[in-house]
Amino acid sequence: MLVCRTKAELKRELSELRKAGKSVGLVPTMGYLHDGHASLLRRAKEENDAAVLSVFINPMQFGPNEDLDRYPRDEQRDLKLAEQCGIDLVFMPAVQEMYPSKPLTSIIISQVTSRLCGASRPGHFDGVGLVVSKLFHLVQPDRAYFGMKDAQQVAVIEQMVNDLDLPVEIIPCPTVREPDGLALSSRNVYLTAQQRQQAVVLSQTLKRAEQWHQEPQMTAGALIAKAAGHIEEATEGTIDYVELLTFPALEPLHPDMPLSEGSGRLILALAVKFGTTRLIDNCILDLSEVNGNAANHDEV
Ligand code: PAJ
Repeated sequence: MLVCRTKAELKRELSELRKAGKSVGLVPTMGYLHDGHASLLRRAKEENDAAVLSVFINPMQFGPNEDLDRYPRDEQRDLKLAEQCGIDLVFMPAVQEMYPSKPLTSIIISQVTSRLCGASRPGHFDGVGLVVSKLFHLVQPDRAYFGMKDAQQVAVIEQMVNDLDLPVEIIPCPTVREPDGLALSSRNVYLTAQQRQQAVVLSQTLKRAEQWHQEPQMTAGALIAKAAGHIEEATEGTIDYVELLTFPALEPLHPDMPLSEGSGRLILALAVKFGTTRLIDNCILDLSEVNGNAANHDEV
């Protein structure tokens, strides 16, 4: 497995792969890898001749009061896991290498960033859009792998790729969870033992919502209220948002809309703060399956 720390090394190694006619799959990450990342790495290796992992804690996507300085890192462990997953090349640039000077170009993806994490973390998706488009230009992958744990990120990247005709296929991958349901996240290490116990309520709420949304009189507003109520009852966490939106357009529904009249896919997305740790999770509810209406199965 090759480890490149500069753009020049990366370019050299990739041109070798391309000369050999190999297809390339890219998995962008911020490191401190867990089994959720590993599922993306394995899939990239399975579906491409060569799999590239990038590990870069992107300062441009952190707000001033966020956890950039304390974001967990463990380079040696990341390299070991990457090797086990069959990764061919790891790109691990320093901040100075990625951004030798302050970038004056912005990638602003509107509308799909106006709610959920885009609303709670202003500028976050501009930073994600910038770094991901840089990585796409540097690596020029055939396919890039993203987790549905960050479903809004998938919708945002898809939008950017379509708008800019970037020659890459985005592959959304399912969320990997702990045995009790908690979605794996590099940020789970921040949780105290008690917060860790309570954090399971996010996935529990989503599981229940998969039943609730099929109840005959259920409306969008009632489902949101039920989910929020369940979180508030069961934890000391503070709700940042509980939203039910269309997916992948991420548009709100009228609160009185009976879900039995809907079609297509919805996302129920949660963000809950436990102390200073903010956890997110989501599920996709397919109304077409429940209501038998014509489905709009656009791939995300
Ligand atoms: P990071 O949080 O490190 O996540 C890297 C990728 O792993 C993302 O696509 C994320 O959705 C996926 N992932 C995280 N937890 C997962 C889980 N439990 N199951 C499945 N996939 C999971 O997301 C980022 O980094 C950054 O924003 C990045 C795209 C790298 C740009 O800086």
